[in-house]
Amino acid sequence: MCGIVGYVGKKRATNFLIDGLSKLEYRGYDSAGVAVENDGKVTVVKHKGRLSNLSDDLDKNVLEGTVGIGHTRWATHGEPSDINSHPHKSSKGNITVVHNGIIENYLELRKWLKEQGYEFKSQTDTEVVPNLIHYYYEGDLFKAVVKATERLEGSYALGVICGDDPDKVVAVRKDSPLIVGLGEGETFIASDIPAVISYTRNVYLLDDNEFVLVTRDGAEVLNSDGSKIDKEVYKVTWSADAAEKGGYDSFMMKEIHEQPKAIRDTLTGKISNNGVSFEGFNLTKEDLDGVDRVYIVACGTAYHAGLMGKVAIEKFAKIPVEVDIASEFRYREPLVTNKTLLITVSQSGETADTLAVLRDCKKIGAKTLAITNVVGSTISREADNVIYTMAGPEIAVASTKAYTTQVVVMNLIGMYFGQLMGSLTNESAKELEEALTLLPEKIEEVLAKKEELEEVAKILAKEQDVFFLGRGVDYALALEGSLKLKEITYIHSEAYAGGELKHGPIALIEEGTKVIALLTQTKLREKMVSNIVEVKARGAETIGVAYEGDEIDESVFNKIVRIPKVLNMVAPVVAAVSLQLLAYYTAKEKNFDIDKPRNLAKSVTVE
Ligand code: M6R
Repeated sequence: MCGIVGYVGKKRATNFLIDGLSKLEYRGYDSAGVAVENDGKVTVVKHKGRLSNLSDDLDKNVLEGTVGIGHTRWATHGEPSDINSHPHKSSKGNITVVHNGIIENYLELRKWLKEQGYEFKSQTDTEVVPNLIHYYYEGDLFKAVVKATERLEGSYALGVICGDDPDKVVAVRKDSPLIVGLGEGETFIASDIPAVISYTRNVYLLDDNEFVLVTRDGAEVLNSDGSKIDKEVYKVTWSADAAEKGGYDSFMMKEIHEQPKAIRDTLTGKISNNGVSFEGFNLTKEDLDGVDRVYIVACGTAYHAGLMGKVAIEKFAKIPVEVDIASEFRYREPLVTNKTLLITVSQSGETADTLAVLRDCKKIGAKTLAITNVVGSTISREADNVIYTMAGPEIAVASTKAYTTQVVVMNLIGMYFGQLMGSLTNESAKELEEALTLLPEKIEEVLAKKEELEEVAKILAKEQDVFFLGRGVDYALALEGSLKLKEITYIHSEAYAGGELKHGPIALIEEGTKVIALLTQTKLREKMVSNIVEVKARGAETIGVAYEGDEIDESVFNKIVRIPKVLNMVAPVVAAVSLQLLAYYTAKEKNFDIDKPRNLAKSVTVE
């Protein structure tokens, strides 16, 4: 959730620290801080609020020094405030720490450290870490960090500097992401690649319990006993532009527009004359025959894509699938065995609950398949099989291109399993293949008419409650449309399956209530129209999303948004773009910070 950076080089450290943090602000943005070491003295500057508060201060009060660490925070323990911001310093000595994660046994450690004479200023879990490192410090920072981490429970990526052991940053990760950037005469640490991409394309992707000793000359990756780990250098292939706004007013709008390309890139190499195939995939027909159950597990938007996956796999491969929310799945008693196939979906590949489910299921011996967007992410490295959505970096908190590419991959998996099981007819395969290939141009058509959605947004912006209705895959899409609207516009919104309305929710409908009805599922369209007639009769104002050319009783709707006609199974991809634009324009109308909605962060690496 938080973003951490670190630098050891020959230039002023704050130049990189602030720039790197600006690329990681999507991970958390309620406060930010840096610590810089200069001639054995460590200076900490930190501020509540956006990174600009910190950078404005550093513009006026320049911090000299070529070694430093930085942090942008998404508060867990303790409100956003100057005091709770990172870096945190030991109350004795000179140890300074930035942390991403949660120290679960911090209360116990805090009590013990107080007994040893340490003092605490903040409400954070993190403040125990510099004090604990100081407790073990005997002139060697690396050894002290190792000893301290032996006592930590929970998750952490740490960057540590010490005025008494200068010219280095010691870092370590456990269940929180951390990479090392290898430059010429300068070395970086960061929570994610975008922070370092303008400086170097050579990185180490750290694994859990790996320590790194960062100096100007490079980075040594070490085990806790100090033995060296021969780490492979990972070459980043995407360009720095991919993590810039590129002329758009927000990352969200840029990413909405990138969807045609993202889908094209995701399809590339996966469909040929022989049907669907995935590089490096080792799931065979025998594996599928032997599978006792299939679970798709994910969080948020990725969970909504998982719901589409259930429909696709059941339809094309005739294999029953259960879909679950990762934070629920991990704490119930799911019937996972060594014959289970677990499919995890995660844009970031770092979401704590999804990762925990993957690890739990692997321990039982289940087969695992991950759908993720980030090469080298923890989930991609730990799953047996990986399919990448090729959406490119997604920076906006509200997921757009990751979602639509996930839905595309879900259809491909359905087709692939259908091929293996012999249940997918040539006709269906051809039809679906064509529909998937046409998606980029159909999305372009939606984008070309975006002003229409700007008009609808003006109506929605005045509302306090909005309802989304759909049936079949349109219900899964309704959930996604509703999430998109609430997360960036703060309008209360609910999604219901059309047929469920009469079982309670219709009580919420009153004069003027806005209801968005999704009508892309041809067989279910008339049923949906009946549901809309029912809400309209109770005073609702209705907005339909329907195919161009479909004959619909227009009198039932106050407004109909038309989308290009596509195969029903892929319609959620096209319709999702309209709903994304609707959420975007509504947030814009309300003057909200679209890329950094309140209380949220992009990568949820704490549970
Ligand atoms: O990185 P992941 O796909 O695992 O993230 C899961 C959710 O946190 C994410 O989809 C979230 O719901 C988005 N903010 C939705 O727009």
